[in-house]
Amino acid sequence: MKKNRAKILGTALLVAVIVIPLILQAQPRGGRGKRGGRGGTSSSLQSPALAKDNEEKKVLAVLNDIVRSQSDAPGRIVPTDTGRLLRLLVEATNSKNVVEIGTSVGHSALWMLLGLKATGGHLTTFDIDPWAVKRARQNFDNAGVGDLVTIIEGDAHVECKALKDPIDLLFLDADKEGYLDYMEKLMPLLRTGGIISADNINMMTQAFIDAITKNPDLETIILGNVSITLKKR
Ligand SMILES: C[S@@+](CC[C@H](N)C(=O)[O-])C[C@H]1O[C@@H](n2cnc3c(N)ncnc32)[C@H](O)[C@@H]1O
Repeated sequence: MKKNRAKILGTALLVAVIVIPLILQAQPRGGRGKRGGRGGTSSSLQSPALAKDNEEKKVLAVLNDIVRSQSDAPGRIVPTDTGRLLRLLVEATNSKNVVEIGTSVGHSALWMLLGLKATGGHLTTFDIDPWAVKRARQNFDNAGVGDLVTIIEGDAHVECKALKDPIDLLFLDADKEGYLDYMEKLMPLLRTGGIISADNINMMTQAFIDAITKNPDLETIILGNVSITLKKR
């Protein structure tokens, strides 16, 4: 058990120190492109994600379809590199209970679901927009991962109060002025060693940035447009 935890911690550290900077170095500043986000990668050294088996192939096909043809997605979906980073974080930290605020059509969620398929975990994702929820559900079903995800429709500031189980990884990507409120409500549920990641850090309130960078119980790195915060043990 202790050995396993040390192994997981070691992997997480390796990811944080070596892999993440390499990935994010390759990601241009300034966030996403127009609605619908960007596909592909930003470095000539990086290859597109490769499917390990037919199940991954199915998920990657839906991800490609979202990038290519679902440009009417509400909000702007994360760049592909951020999606890949999230998958990597989920799998490397062996996350079993992942929470996302801001589903849109399910682009970031599908990347995390690739990791959750490997860890045997589950995603709970919130969105206030009924149209987005419907489209996300279709995308999850088409990708064959519908049973690994619960979509909660409604205002996440209200709905997230119903969460009770310890959270391994929390991804914030909804109303930017609301990040501090989400963090205050959900931080007590985040397990030690757990991770909070937030997209569009350039649009964050100063209060949120202070909350993740000035608390000695947290270790935060801001890389490109994404913050990654570890709740220290
Ligand atoms: C930037 S998009 C999310 C993109 C998604 N994470 C992705 O990369 O595929 C933001 C989403 O947050 C949702 N949203 C905004 N305010 C919300 C709230 N108070 N509660 C729940 N969802 C909200 C919007 O409807 C929108 O779909």
